[in-house]
Amino acid sequence: MGVAQNEEIRHEKTGIVFRPGLEGVPATQSAICDIDGQLGRLSYRGYPLEDLAVHSTFLETTYLLIWGELPSPQQLRDFEEEVQMHRRVSFRVRDMMKCFPASGHPMDALQSSAASLGLFYSRRAIDDPQYIYDAVVRLIAKIPTMVAAFQLIRKGQDPIQPRDDLAYSANFLYMLTEREPDPLAARIFDRCLMLHAEHSLNASTFSARVTASTLTDPYAVVASAVGTLAGPLHGGANEDVLAMLEEIGSPANAAAYLDEAIASKRKVMGFGHREYRVKDPRAVILQSLAEEMFARFGHDDLYDVARALEEAADSRLGPKGIYPNVDFYSGLVYRKLGIPRDLFTPVFAIARVAGWLAHWREQLGANRIFRPSQIYTGRPLRSWVARESRVPAAGA
Ligand code: COA
Repeated sequence: MGVAQNEEIRHEKTGIVFRPGLEGVPATQSAICDIDGQLGRLSYRGYPLEDLAVHSTFLETTYLLIWGELPSPQQLRDFEEEVQMHRRVSFRVRDMMKCFPASGHPMDALQSSAASLGLFYSRRAIDDPQYIYDAVVRLIAKIPTMVAAFQLIRKGQDPIQPRDDLAYSANFLYMLTEREPDPLAARIFDRCLMLHAEHSLNASTFSARVTASTLTDPYAVVASAVGTLAGPLHGGANEDVLAMLEEIGSPANAAAYLDEAIASKRKVMGFGHREYRVKDPRAVILQSLAEEMFARFGHDDLYDVARALEEAADSRLGPKGIYPNVDFYSGLVYRKLGIPRDLFTPVFAIARVAGWLAHWREQLGANRIFRPSQIYTGRPLRSWVARESRVPAAGA
């Protein structure tokens, strides 16, 4: 039976206030990422996202997020080399993935294969910095390989091996599409990964921290976060954005679509964010990356629909602080890169594993197991009813 989750309630007995979705309730202290939702600013370890998107790479940003400082040139070279050396996944993992149903969602395949890494690297020494470094390297290196492998396996093909001469993002696109990508496409994809790498205590990161707080292994931490990211209110929204843009069909239909969605209280996909009251800064950068892609590789008419929708939403949803979020333009970039729609969320996971691991490390640094309370709304204590005296309960 449903219990109201949408109203703020003060518990009569204890005076504790229940805030639905824990909105505005700090659940941790963190030095990783800062969001200013009023001004639309986002920074990783103090560096503005806009600077990282221009100057950094995904692997350098990953290092920054996890270890707190930009790597020296030697540290970066070492990290890149280590990641490159660990890109391959065991044939046993590939064989396991071949047994997955081809019709299954790639996020479910990713969650299972990420969790399976714990079987292969079962030593759990979470207070050993070398163990942490090795686990980070393995997860950052292998998650893209597993995403690309499932894509080929479900098409009935054998996964292709990573190529050592290709950098991180170019190699992923190569393993996925079986073609060496254009350098601009690879650079744009690398920027997309940076933009998605971290975003404070969102649902999947919270899930990662809760799992980490039990002192389990990092593969379980990532697997639990992947499962949380899969939902349409979180990482799954960019798949739905493209479906919505296709349904709208033409810029001329955008305003009517919005009016109907608002009147029937339907959420418009790719809009709204718990943290932002202005346009998500990641959506601003992704929009410019989309334009860069279209200028080089050809226009996409769905972009015109997206722009018309954003314009129409300005007066209809803007006054409530609802603007495009990270998912609104990312799907258009991925589509131009030739990434299948149901891989959009796994691609999000490839990026966000950096943030999850940064939070894993931070959680271990000052751990206390998460164990929040609840407000009990069930029956008071009652007497046992013998089996023969029971009648079927309504709604059971
Ligand atoms: N379209 C239309 N209205 C929206 C909306 C959207 N995308 N997002 C929020 N709203 C409205 C709600 O209807 C609600 O209005 P009300 O107060 O009149 O009932 C109000 O804004 C608050 O919404 P709520 O769902 O309580 O906000 P939240 O902070 O719990 O949810 C999201 C945030 C992201 C889950 C929500 O905006 C959403 O579902 N967006 C669409 C899915 C999406 O793009 N997800 C990706 C997030 S990066």
